[in-house]
Amino acid sequence: MSWFDGFEPICRSDVPLRAHTWYQLGGPARWMLTPRDEGELAAVVDRCRKEGVAWRMLGRGANLLVRDGGFDGAVLRLTGEIFEKIAYDGGSVAVGAGADFPKFVRDAFNHSLVGLEALAGIPGTIGGIVRMNAGGKYGEIRQFVRAVRVLNPKGEILTLPAEQVGFRYRHTDLDGFVVLGAVLELEPGDRDAALRRHREIWNEKYDQQPPVSARSAGCIFKNPPGQSAGRLIDEAGLKGFRMGAAEISRKHANFIVADAGATAQNVLDLIALAKDRVWNRSGVSLELEIEVW
Ligand code: EPU
Repeated sequence: MSWFDGFEPICRSDVPLRAHTWYQLGGPARWMLTPRDEGELAAVVDRCRKEGVAWRMLGRGANLLVRDGGFDGAVLRLTGEIFEKIAYDGGSVAVGAGADFPKFVRDAFNHSLVGLEALAGIPGTIGGIVRMNAGGKYGEIRQFVRAVRVLNPKGEILTLPAEQVGFRYRHTDLDGFVVLGAVLELEPGDRDAALRRHREIWNEKYDQQPPVSARSAGCIFKNPPGQSAGRLIDEAGLKGFRMGAAEISRKHANFIVADAGATAQNVLDLIALAKDRVWNRSGVSLELEIEVW
């Protein structure tokens, strides 16, 4: 009998994760499960806990580096209509964790609900975006979140008001929780003006960062208080530095871009190098923003 007894229809083994991440790097997941509803998800997580199987939630894999050896555990994905639902009630919108964030932003504009243009150019699912309080220069998701529906570590499904989520810079208190969805509060406004602002912010990012189509995971490190990780790595002279086929971006030093033939280890080596050089030069200890599995 295997640990996933009864879950065979939704479980696959040795699934390459490179196909599921922006980086397109790294090895396979020992198991990948796609629960069909919240009850089944809760049952899978409960089984993992009881059987001591390590588990992780996977969204779009936009902020994730998977090691070359892969992940020796169960990777869970929330796909399908049930997890991707969007329900509008005036400016209050309930969005499923599996919904694609950039698509949702445009959908909201089409309902003449604005605000999320501030988060233009951030890929991911709502679940991933909320979990890490994703954002940029012009805003963070927490400004819009009223409540988050979660599966908590005890296996209960409940709705947390935003104040109980512990939103802070690129982090929340949701470790060990599964985000099932969020209720966002958006402002009624002009769709075309929001689209123009969206385009402006997108262009600004495009000028300063590698394009979203490049193989990266966005910013590698968090900005230390009052400082820019990109500038610190740049000042350490590392722009354009390569390990194998991975490179510290020449455009923005807090990005590491993978070219054809790169390995996850190439990226990890550059991460270690950047940390080391910045520590030696500036006495600042850089902290990862991305997740590494
Ligand atoms: N800078 C350099 N060299 C570089 C990069 C930056 O000198 O190689 C300087 C810039 O000239 C600027 C300052 O550092 O004066 C800050 O740079 P930037 O405006 O590009 O913003 P950032 O702090 O590096 C943050 C977010 C990005 C987000 C941008 C724009 C973090 C860690 N980074 O970057 O988020 O896209 O603002 O809104 O919070 C991400 O989360 O994945 C991410 C990329």
